[in-house]
Amino acid sequence: MPRSLKNCHNVADLRDLARRKLPGPIFHYIDGAAEDEITYRRNTSAFDNYDLVPNVLAGVESIDMSVEVMGFKLGLPIFCSPTALQRLFHYEGERGVALAAEKYNTLFGVSSLTTVSLKDIDEMINTPKMFQFYFHKDRGLNASMVEAAKAANFDILTLTVDTITGGNRERDLRTGFTTPPKLTPKSLLQFACKPMWGLNYLFREKFELAQLKGHVKEGSNVAISVGDYFSSMLDQSMSWDDVAALQQTWGGKFCLKGIMSPQDARRAVEIGADAIMISNHGGRQLDGSRSPFDQLEEIVQVVGGEIEIILDGGIRRGTHILKAMALGATACSGGRMYLYALGAAGRLGVENALGNIRTEVERDMKLMGIKSLKELNPDMIRRR
Ligand code: LAC
Repeated sequence: MPRSLKNCHNVADLRDLARRKLPGPIFHYIDGAAEDEITYRRNTSAFDNYDLVPNVLAGVESIDMSVEVMGFKLGLPIFCSPTALQRLFHYEGERGVALAAEKYNTLFGVSSLTTVSLKDIDEMINTPKMFQFYFHKDRGLNASMVEAAKAANFDILTLTVDTITGGNRERDLRTGFTTPPKLTPKSLLQFACKPMWGLNYLFREKFELAQLKGHVKEGSNVAISVGDYFSSMLDQSMSWDDVAALQQTWGGKFCLKGIMSPQDARRAVEIGADAIMISNHGGRQLDGSRSPFDQLEEIVQVVGGEIEIILDGGIRRGTHILKAMALGATACSGGRMYLYALGAAGRLGVENALGNIRTEVERDMKLMGIKSLKELNPDMIRRR
């Protein structure tokens, strides 16, 4: 098990280091998923059913791994998906991730359940940023989040559509994980084992959900599990009409996160969304659902060329990104791939994660005989 960042060469190493650094309930909140976690594991193992077919002698001394996502040129073909509660994982929280994403010139997604204000993020970075929207029952809160995202110059609004009710996250049930964390007799020992985390949590900036605290107590002052938050605070009547209305109020680049079926991808095109993120929320919602990579080909067949298609979830290696792009993804995104790193070592950890991926993509492109990611096509990949 790696003891420090310099021994971390891949996502698995960063996961091991995060496990050493974080209290059990926090680590398992990041690492865990729904029920038997079959979908979570499949999100990554799905890539193993496909093999790349390289070409050689292509003059690859200099390569270009940039991609264009919703009008923004990114220096990496993968970006940081919006994820919640980052200050629980490291005191640098969203600020650390924002700076690391800026360093690698990639997109950073900030969650509705962010622990830093959107304004703070705007003041820190000049690279493009996405705000992830949870459609709440509280319409005043919804309106205030759109306003805040506009005021803080966010470039893209991404609506999450796969959290209509809370997933059955049994690791969280076992550890008693809530936001804010509660010290229960069960969890006390686990928190006491990681005193550095405890000192940072108690003596640095107060933990709160910056976009929500003015409207709802849950999450900042009243402890609640994430599953219960989804089930009780989000609007289960949300429909395509609400989505179209939200898109209109926003008026800028608009993306839907959590699309899995070709039919829904078609509807996303019909309402004029700019992109979809094929995602099952990291396997944290419906266990037994397909993996994003398994769904990619049929979605590309139906809407390829009409909407941007982001493959979200399961990515651990540069080759996973190349496989997704060979099958028609515009780009990729991921959560745990940088969250382990945040938990392991804050901003420097996330830089390590993105740096490793960058090095892998560069090497893999050269070994595939391509100078630009645009050269990737279905001829370069086979199903086993
Ligand atoms: C999750 C939410 C908050 O825990 O995105 O999956």
